[in-house]
Amino acid sequence: MKAVYLAGIGAVAMAGLIAACAPETQVTTGRSDYMNLCVDCHGPTGKGDGPAAAGMEPRPTDITRVARNNDGVFPKNRVMSHIYGYTMGRSESPMPQFGDLLEGRTVLYDTGDGIETPTPWRLVALMEYVEGMQE
Ligand code: HEC
Repeated sequence: MKAVYLAGIGAVAMAGLIAACAPETQVTTGRSDYMNLCVDCHGPTGKGDGPAAAGMEPRPTDITRVARNNDGVFPKNRVMSHIYGYTMGRSESPMPQFGDLLEGRTVLYDTGDGIETPTPWRLVALMEYVEGMQE
């Protein structure tokens, strides 16, 4: 009986250990970064209805309509700049700058102008995740 009991505790301790290690082995993706960094304001579907959005001025943009509001073209460069923190004069925005956080491995990325620019891959992944939300 005692042995079974101890084995039980061992299993629980083991499960705890595995759970404690899990976050470090979790894979970072555009989606996981969105869920960690953006969802509080922009909401899970990007409509700008996250829990932190209430009363915010200006309101978090409905980022499912960025392309529609730009003649149907998703402005990759503008969106990456915005996330990075080049807010282009809109310093009154409550949106944080994520540039430092997203530094790290870069990829050569062509936003459509034929020029491949070294760009933090997490920034590209986030931008592509937002692109995928367009309605
Ligand atoms: C603290 C709240 C907050 C967080 C967190 C936040 N945003 Fe924003 N976001 C805003 C607000 C407010 C605006 C509208 C004002 C502005 O344009 O900066 C905005 C605007 C935007 C826009 C519109 C840009 C354009 O060109 O029209 C995009 C895209 C965007 N956010 C993406 C993101 C992404 C991706 C993240 C996570 C990495 C994020 N935001 C995190 C508040 C937030």
